[in-house]
Amino acid sequence: MEKTLNFLTSKDSEGCGMKEMKEQVVSPKQFKKEVSAISDGTVIDHIDSKSTFKVANILSVQNETQMVLVGMNLSSKHLGKKGIIKIGGRILTQSEVNKIALIAPDATLNIIKDYEVVRKFNVAIPDIIESIVKCFNPNCVSNHEKIQTKFHTISKTPLKLRCHYCERTMKAEDIELV
Ligand SMILES: Nc1ncnc2c1ncn2[C@@H]1O[C@H](COP(=O)(O)OP(=O)(O)OP(=O)(O)O)[C@@H](O)[C@H]1O
Ligand SMILES: [Mg+2]
Ligand SMILES: [Zn+2]
Repeated sequence: MEKTLNFLTSKDSEGCGMKEMKEQVVSPKQFKKEVSAISDGTVIDHIDSKSTFKVANILSVQNETQMVLVGMNLSSKHLGKKGIIKIGGRILTQSEVNKIALIAPDATLNIIKDYEVVRKFNVAIPDIIESIVKCFNPNCVSNHEKIQTKFHTISKTPLKLRCHYCERTMKAEDIELV
């Protein structure tokens, strides 16, 4: 790629029919930006790589009309491999952020404005989780009556949630989002 660009921009190309192409030359840096940058929106970084598409599903990215970039198995210093999701024109809701925290507790959110990161924060598992998780106990009242589910976070690592209604404790692998 770099070689081709060098050829197109080199002085030798003038006078050999290459002049018009010169206008289209994109520097490697700009090329990288065009396929990986969003002007405004949210970047969800440091997703546990295996959970990348679960996070994409939480956010229903298939319904987006603006740019969405999803990457997985990207190298990361502290996670080994990570996933990234970049969504143009979108700011996440608190409920979406809470769901992401349960699935990808190391994720960081970056708010992008005019191509720059203007805010950065870590997701956090709340002490009380309402509505977003389903109780895994089939006999739990929350599975039979029209009430919002409610869990108390009794441990964040490893994740353990206790149902407010039936008091059963769920681990990360038992968690099903509503
Ligand atoms: N305009 C943009 N469009 C798309 N992605 C962007 C944009 N700006 C930054 N990013 C991405 O957002 C993430 C955070 O950007 P930042 O520049 O803060 O990187 P960083 O210093 O590596 O952050 P961290 O310390 O959180 O790893 C990176 O993955 C970066 O590639
Ligand atoms: Mg980084
Ligand atoms: Zn329950």
